[in-house]
Amino acid sequence: MLKSVSCGALRIEDEGREVTLAGWVHRRRDHGGLVFIDLRDWRGIVQVVFNPEFAPEAHDAAQSLRSEWVLRVRGTVGQRPPGTANPNIPTGDVEVVAATLEVLNPSITPPFSLEEEAAEADELVRLRYRYLDLRRAAIRDNLFLRHRVVKYIRDFLSEREFIEVETPILTKSTPEGARDYLVPSRIHPGQFYALPQSPQQMKQLLVMGGVERYFQIARCFRDEDLRADRQPEFTQLDLEMGFVDESDVLELIEQLFTGLAETMAPDKRMVKPFPRLAYADAMARYGSDRPDLRFGLELSDLSDIAAESEFQVFKRAIESGGVAKGLAAPGCASLPRRQLDALTDFARERGAAGLVYVALDGDPDRPLDDLTEDDYRSPAARFLTTDEVKRLAARLDASRGDLLLIVAGPRESVDNALGGLRVEMGRRLELADPDLLSFCFIVDFPLLEWRPEENRWDSPHNPFSAPKDDHLPLLESDPGSVLAKQYDLVCNGMEIAGGSVRNHRREMQERVFELLGHSREAMQEQFGQILDALEYGAPPHGGIASGIDRVVMLLGGVDSIREVMAFPKTQSAVDQLFGAPSPVSEQQLRDLHIRVVGE
Ligand code: AMO
Repeated sequence: MLKSVSCGALRIEDEGREVTLAGWVHRRRDHGGLVFIDLRDWRGIVQVVFNPEFAPEAHDAAQSLRSEWVLRVRGTVGQRPPGTANPNIPTGDVEVVAATLEVLNPSITPPFSLEEEAAEADELVRLRYRYLDLRRAAIRDNLFLRHRVVKYIRDFLSEREFIEVETPILTKSTPEGARDYLVPSRIHPGQFYALPQSPQQMKQLLVMGGVERYFQIARCFRDEDLRADRQPEFTQLDLEMGFVDESDVLELIEQLFTGLAETMAPDKRMVKPFPRLAYADAMARYGSDRPDLRFGLELSDLSDIAAESEFQVFKRAIESGGVAKGLAAPGCASLPRRQLDALTDFARERGAAGLVYVALDGDPDRPLDDLTEDDYRSPAARFLTTDEVKRLAARLDASRGDLLLIVAGPRESVDNALGGLRVEMGRRLELADPDLLSFCFIVDFPLLEWRPEENRWDSPHNPFSAPKDDHLPLLESDPGSVLAKQYDLVCNGMEIAGGSVRNHRREMQERVFELLGHSREAMQEQFGQILDALEYGAPPHGGIASGIDRVVMLLGGVDSIREVMAFPKTQSAVDQLFGAPSPVSEQQLRDLHIRVVGE
C-alpha cells in the first residue's frame, strides 16, 4: 500500500509513531510560517503540519497545494500544542509533522466545496459530479451504514438457515402495480423482456422447488412517479419461507429490525413488541396505512354530528354515503388566514372537496361548555350552531386555542386528505420525537380493492396473497370484505416492508385471478408458470420484502433516498453523471427491430 495507516485512524496513543499517509487535501491554511493541511481519506481527516525549519523542501511544495490534490506524506505523529486541539474530530488531539511530501495527482478546482460546513451545492451539480460528492463525509457515512446494514441482514438470515439465491434480471413482467422497464429482444423480433419489479414469482417458484428459506438482496425496477423515498431502481431484502403462516414471518422480521435498529442506531428508542394495527383501524385513526405513530393527532369520525347538521356540505356528504372526519390541531387557532387557505389547498390537492376549519379562541384552561358564538371563527360559522361546534370540539378532544380541521365526502378522499393534514400538522408542530423509531405492523389488509373508475377489483399489493382462512366463504358473497394474510411494516410514516402468505393451491389462486377480471386464457398466458407449479405439491409459503434504501434512510436519519445510494437518479429518472437515458445508434435500433416514431 502507498500508505501505512488511514488518516482518520490516528489517536493520541500514536504519538511518536512514524506514518505514511495518503489522501486528498481537504483544506490548506498558512499560519505563522507553517503550512497546515487537513488531509482526508475515507476514514476521516488528520492535520498535517509543514515546518520550514524541519522539512524545508516539503514546506515549499506544500505552499502550492490546492483542494482535492492527492498526496502522500511521511511524518511523525505528535500531540497538538496546548490550546489547539480540535474536539470536533476524532483525530483532534494529534497532528502529523511532515518530513516528505509527494503529489500523486493534482486536481482542477472542484465545482463545489466538499467541506461539511459549506452550503450544500445544487443537487443536480452534485449528481453530475457524484465522484466528488461521494468524498463528502455525509454520503460516505451513508454508504458505510448501508454496507453494515446489508452485512447484518446477510449474517442474521444465514444464521437462521436462509440461503441467498440470485434470480434473473431479464425476465417476464410480474405485476407489482408499476409500469415495467422493457428490454427488446434482438433474437426474437418484436418481443421484450421485462426487468423485475420484484422477484415475487421467482421466489415463490424457489420455495416450490424446495428452497425452504430463500433470501436475496435484490435489485428491483419500477417505472413510477418518483418521490423522496422512491427510485426507479432500488434494492429489496426479498425473502420467502416454506411451511409458515403470517405470525412466523412477522416474528422473524420483528427480530431482524429490532436487532438492526439496536446495532445501527443505538441512540434511538423503539416500542417493543411492534404494535400490530388492522388496516381498517389505521385508516380510521390515522387516515393512512403507513401511519407515523411518533405522535397522536388522531382522526375522529364526526358523521353522526354532520348528519344532523343543517350545514349542506356536511348533510350532503353523509346523504350520499360519505363520512365526516376531523382532527384538532393543538394551539393552532391563531394561524393566519394565509396559512389556513394553504391548508385548504393542501386538502384539495389530496382529493378533498374542501376543508372546514373552526378556530376555538380563548384560554385553553377555560372549559368548552360555556363556548359562545363569539368564541370561534370559521368560514362555516353561520351554518353551524354553537351546540354543534361544542359537540365537534368535544368529539375531537379539543381545547380552546385549538384549530378543528374537518373534511366531509367519500371515505377514501376524506382519509387521504386528513391523513395528509395530520402528517403536515405533526411536522409543523414538531410533534414527532426525533429519538423514536416507531415501528408497527399493518395487518388484515383487504384482499381486493374496488376501482370505481375502471369498474373492477384490483389487488392492493400483489395478486398472490391468500385470503384469511375463515373468510373463504365471503369470496363468493361479499369479495370486498375478504381480508388477506397480508402485512406491511411501517416506521415513522414510511412503508419499510410488505408481504403476505400466498395462495398455494391452484383453485384458490385462480379464483383470485378471476375476481381480478382475468380470463382463463389471460391467466394461463401471464401466470401459467406459477399456476402450473401450484399443481405439483406446492407447500404453504409466505414472505416479505423490505426496501433496503428506506431502511438505511431511517437508521441514518436521512430524508432523501438519493443520499443513501451511490449513483441515484434524479426526480425525473435521469442519471445525471452518465446522461442516461440517451439515444442509441441507428444500427443498435435496427438490430433490435425498433423504429422510434417521434418524441
Ligand atoms: P412491495 O411492492 O411492497 O412488495 O415492495 C416492498 C418494499 O420495497 C420498497 N419499495 C421501494 N423503495 C424504493 N423505491 C421504490 N420505487 C420502491 N418501491 C417499493 C418499500 C416496500 O415496502 N413482492 C412484494 C413483496 C412480497 O409480497 O413478498 C413487493 O415487492 O420499502
